Amino acid sequence: MAGKPRVFVARHIPEAGLRPILDALDARVWEQPGPPPRDELLAAIAGCDGVLTMLTDRVDDEFLDVAGRQLRVVSQMAVGYDNIDVEACSRRGIPVGNTPGVLTDTTADLTFALILAAARRLPEGERFVHSGEWTTWSPTAQLGVDVHGSTLGIIGFGRIGQAVARRALGFGMSVLYASPERAARAVETALNATWLPFDEVLAKSDIVSLHVDLNDTTRGLIDADALRLMKPGAILVNTTRGPVVDSGALYEALRDGVIRAAALDVTDPEPIPSDDPLLTLENCLIVPNIGSATEATRGRMASMAAANLLAGVRGLPLPNVVNPEVYESA
Ligand code: GLV
Repeated sequence: MAGKPRVFVARHIPEAGLRPILDALDARVWEQPGPPPRDELLAAIAGCDGVLTMLTDRVDDEFLDVAGRQLRVVSQMAVGYDNIDVEACSRRGIPVGNTPGVLTDTTADLTFALILAAARRLPEGERFVHSGEWTTWSPTAQLGVDVHGSTLGIIGFGRIGQAVARRALGFGMSVLYASPERAARAVETALNATWLPFDEVLAKSDIVSLHVDLNDTTRGLIDADALRLMKPGAILVNTTRGPVVDSGALYEALRDGVIRAAALDVTDPEPIPSDDPLLTLENCLIVPNIGSATEATRGRMASMAAANLLAGVRGLPLPNVVNPEVYESA
């Protein structure tokens, strides 16, 4: 009898995903807190039938060559997969799985947390209290801007962008959105959202929130020119991928008052180095890529990634595949 398929799980993942993998497969799990260094990753995947990756693991030709011809699946525990050369996987007939849908609302919640925190200057307020500077109520200190009734510009109107728009309804915000394709009329009506060209969304919004995938057309999308189009009082929120924003240009825009504030869940590079100039700014709030980080959602992501991995090593179609063309040519 053939042995169990061999897999590498590139990080300790929640039990909901880990258990079915350990029960059914010959699995090695990377147990250290950080991602495996490249050489260790390559050593671990050699000869595997499947690999469960994170957005911190680069999957490219070298990875696939080292893994070997028996590799049947790359299962990513994330909805985004810009760390994976999907074309290289497709050329080899290897399906790539991801975890769409289950993290939409969790990421939209975090986006709203960032919008509110930046608009009402929560991190500054917290630092103020902790440092003992809070001695009295002040009529003029700690003033932020209203979120309710403001105009929200959403760049990228997929699942997460639309979930953010849905939350904006409760705050009485006007929603503008930019995306290559106009959403269905019913979606626009339900979300009270108006489709406009990218430049106009930037120019008219009080808060601009980014929800595009990272790809060749969106890398550096928010550069110095884009920032200059925004209102001087505007807030930029990024919960997608760091390289969508030109960090140097953002630093200058925040320092020089070109825009009011930024709230970032993602940075470029990631993690942000401790001497990055963005960290010197009071008007730049940064959290460590926690868009999907709730117990329930990470459990669901792990379980979906496990289902993709198990299907892949058994030669079955992945429940969530990003390159279905591999099945057409099979
Ligand atoms: C997280 O960033 C994801 O892509 O799931």
